[in-house]
Amino acid sequence: MRNRFRNSLAAGAAVAAASLTLGLAAPGVQAAAPAGAATAAAPDIPVANVKAHLAQFQQIANANGGNRAHGRAGYRASLDYVKGKLDAAGFTTTVQQFTASGATGYNLIADWPGGDTTKTVMTGAHLDSVSAGPGINDDGSGSAGVLEAALAVSRAQLKPDKHLRFGWFGAEELGLVGSKYYVNSLSSAERAKISAYLNFDMIGSPNPGYFVYDDDPALEKVFKDYFATLSIPTEIETEGDGRSDHAPFKNIGIPVGGLFSGADYTKTSAQAQKWGGTAGRAFDACYHESCDTSANIDDTALDHNTDAIAYALWQLSTGTTTPPGGDSYENTTDVTIPDSPGAAVTSSITVSGRTGSAPAALKVAVNIVHTFSGDLVVDLIGPSGKAYRLHNSSSDSTPNINTTYTVNASTETANGTWKLKVQDKGPQDTGYINSWKLTF
Ligand code: TRP
Ligand code: ZN
Ligand code: CA
Repeated sequence: MRNRFRNSLAAGAAVAAASLTLGLAAPGVQAAAPAGAATAAAPDIPVANVKAHLAQFQQIANANGGNRAHGRAGYRASLDYVKGKLDAAGFTTTVQQFTASGATGYNLIADWPGGDTTKTVMTGAHLDSVSAGPGINDDGSGSAGVLEAALAVSRAQLKPDKHLRFGWFGAEELGLVGSKYYVNSLSSAERAKISAYLNFDMIGSPNPGYFVYDDDPALEKVFKDYFATLSIPTEIETEGDGRSDHAPFKNIGIPVGGLFSGADYTKTSAQAQKWGGTAGRAFDACYHESCDTSANIDDTALDHNTDAIAYALWQLSTGTTTPPGGDSYENTTDVTIPDSPGAAVTSSITVSGRTGSAPAALKVAVNIVHTFSGDLVVDLIGPSGKAYRLHNSSSDSTPNINTTYTVNASTETANGTWKLKVQDKGPQDTGYINSWKLTF
């Protein structure tokens, strides 16, 4: 017997069982675009093209006092160079201006027209150097690699399912100033449309490591998969989380990923064994120094990492991989749950336009308003009719259920009618299904 306070008795037949079949209800929650036709494989990016951009950055530094730092002429010249290439290739570019340490800084944002803008995949690098040198590895390498990957999108005239945006940020070396400014400039609606941010800061280190950011698992997997095809072992990036432009994105809940070939940490002998190079020496001995010139680049690392950028862009934007954040389907229509003894009620979500099975980690967000959550037995019913128990009745007197459950639904087809089934097993307390949501 449960022991709890009751102030009234109101048995009575409540509302009859209701079954609603609703599509997508909440604003901003949309069905996935139907998967595109078979898409071409990601291109092999010619490393010579990337190196040609680095040669330009070196020349710009040479002509402007030896650096491309925030507030210096070499920065603006770098931005004009990148912008010119993107404009000629058909991107829509925007220069965003900000002030830092008394000087004007600039971010360059480039959108590739097309794709679902509510699922934007954004890729970026910082375009400024430190004032001590030309910053060819840090971060000419990322800037040039992202530029060349963007130009490959244009060469392929890619028609991605998801929108592609690229960013070159200013004043990273002053404390992520440009990327923070960019993120702060976005409305919450605009933020919600960015489903992933990929960062590339130092990808051609002269004594390279192959480090993958350990943030969003789906993004991490894309990069690991790529390096697995090359049989190159990777490690998790540990040289300082939050030390580059992905941090402001991560801080507002955007899934982030990226690659890194190492800065001033020392390569161990185990790392030299698997990656080559020199043990006991920094990955980049010229990190933040004047010797970070076009000679300070390992072409092989630059090549692999740039190809990995293209691979990730194609994977994430052309429907072969679902970017993190997933596609959500929600029913927000209230369904009254009759008090015990009463019938179970259901609320339905119809999923269409997907391919294949439901995920092994299907997210089921359940919001039930009820004065005694222990009364409730809650099941997810898959399209096959199989029930997945989410919540059992108990003596738990806590009101409401507002929980996201993870269900292994891999034996279900994604498409079909999914139901949330709720039955009240304890007399007196009552409530209703407020909303529920499936995220694939
Ligand atoms: N520009 C970065 C910095 O100076 C380089 C860096 C160091 C980095 N550690 C990192 C970039 C880890 C990405 C991840 O801080
Ligand atoms: Zn950097
Ligand atoms: Ca009850």
